[in-house]
Amino acid sequence: MTITASQLRKAYIEFFKKHDHAEIGSAPLVPENDPTVLFTTAGMHPLVPFLLGQQHPAGNRLVNCQKCIRTGDIEDVGDTTHLTFFEMLGNWSLGDYFKEEAIAYSFEFLTSELNIPLSRLWISCFAGDEDAPRDDEAASVWRRLGVPEEKIVFLDKTHNWWGPAGQTGPCGPDTEMFVELDQPPCGPACDVTCGCGKYVEIWNDVFMQYNKNEHGDYEPMERKNVDTGMGLERVTAVLQGRSSCYETELFAGFFQCLSELIKQSDPAADPGGRMVADHIRAATFLLGDGVKPGNIDQGYVLRRLIRRAVRRISQFGVKEVATPRLARVFIDEYSQAYPELSSRAEMIAEELRLEEEQFAEALQRGIREFNKLVEKFPADLKNKVISGRKAFFLYETYGFPLELTEEMAHEQGLAVDREGFEKAYRKHQEQSRSGAEKRFKGGLADQSAKTTRLHTATHLLHEALRRELGEHVQQAGSNINAERLRFDFTHGEKLSKEQLRRVENTVNAVIQENLPIEVREMSIDEAQRSGAVGIFGERYGERVKVYRIGDFSAEICGGPHVERTGDLGGFKITKEESSSRGVRRIKAELKDQPEANEKK
Ligand code: ALA
Repeated sequence: MTITASQLRKAYIEFFKKHDHAEIGSAPLVPENDPTVLFTTAGMHPLVPFLLGQQHPAGNRLVNCQKCIRTGDIEDVGDTTHLTFFEMLGNWSLGDYFKEEAIAYSFEFLTSELNIPLSRLWISCFAGDEDAPRDDEAASVWRRLGVPEEKIVFLDKTHNWWGPAGQTGPCGPDTEMFVELDQPPCGPACDVTCGCGKYVEIWNDVFMQYNKNEHGDYEPMERKNVDTGMGLERVTAVLQGRSSCYETELFAGFFQCLSELIKQSDPAADPGGRMVADHIRAATFLLGDGVKPGNIDQGYVLRRLIRRAVRRISQFGVKEVATPRLARVFIDEYSQAYPELSSRAEMIAEELRLEEEQFAEALQRGIREFNKLVEKFPADLKNKVISGRKAFFLYETYGFPLELTEEMAHEQGLAVDREGFEKAYRKHQEQSRSGAEKRFKGGLADQSAKTTRLHTATHLLHEALRRELGEHVQQAGSNINAERLRFDFTHGEKLSKEQLRRVENTVNAVIQENLPIEVREMSIDEAQRSGAVGIFGERYGERVKVYRIGDFSAEICGGPHVERTGDLGGFKITKEESSSRGVRRIKAELKDQPEANEKK
């Protein structure tokens, strides 16, 4: 059956609506009230509070198509499977149906709606370990539906387990669905876990039936949820018999435009062409959600995407500004499903033009500078490392994101001293910050300075609560405005006056200590090992920032934060209330910045 991506989107939503699911819109790519991650990486992400027990206004059966960004794979983009931006179709049961119905829905949708022959389907289920038993329940549902025994494989936690989203919380075994393509196996050991392309994973049903507690134990949960995810682009490609999503209609207009621009007949066959397609599409959607190119957080990722694409386009020999024209093709392709793109079309084009012009001009000079640098490395030298200082010079003077310098270095068989770069970067930041502080001295702190202080106070509150109440306390939401912070966290009971007073005292004591705040970027794994708290989207290999406040707290967060706790002023809890079942809410304020800190 040939089906377009937009038909698939519609078929999925309609199918689940027919089965009493309420359609919810896609949340923005930048999570609201969750400073712990940069982007929405799965359909379940905006639903975490509801998976933790809050009542969803639309009900207990939900379906949607969610825009997602995963940046862990940026360096792999250009091959035929990795995408920075993608759409995830998903259906959820919040304490409603469980394995039996979830699997039956998946089976019916795949075989009756999409007409995927049973003979092509493979299933994996959780094999069981010391934490949870083998998922025979899921497997027997598949068997009853007609999937032959030999097409059901049992795999370990690395394959068939999902979550928790944080260190503790709901998680459980999952069952994955694969389509076998009509191509020979890559070898005798080729199976569904093999990356050769013969088996394409298309859908994942997660059974959130355990709560991982603070001791690392998996307790069976009373209220069980189902969370599912299907990659729209991948399934479209499979159904169209294409070997990659770049060959589907989603990208056809783009490659047509690119081909005219670079005067090359088949840019989809070129890894560089595919990389440009991926990056421009992701950049278009990020701009459509209000992200602007910048030097930190989401803005930095956007800048990297645009600049990588611009460099590649220029390597194709294009001299004129190209990105707005290329983005236009995606805006047209997607604006029916995502109207924010057409309503912001002009702004998207303008931002791209500005960023491209600004960078393209420096790019040629930067490349010359880079080449001069490279020439200095004798061919026989073993230790070929570009110093951090030089990489920072390229960043500062020509706007080369570190990763771009690394990529160019890599092409020449060289490495870059990352740590040295970060050191040079921090030194520069400190210098410009002290300059800015001098300018503002005596003036009122601006809005962003106030929210930054409240943001740091939120970390202190989080840790103080964990110390007072226990490690089960986990952030369930955070919202900050210029007046106050609001922090939702997992805890079953109302806090007593004494507890609140002790928490407040702890925070104020740390403020008094005037502890330094340091940030380091690391992989999710490293962050987890270092004991930082925060939401760990383990699967995605994303790099995260960990903010450390003296020895008091370490938390994954996008920032920004103040430099020392003494910058905060007096901390006061103004309200403690229930937010939803199992989730409490605290509101707190900071009194004006103390004079004390001027003395340091
Ligand atoms: N949240 C699950 C996933 O991303 C469905 O695979």
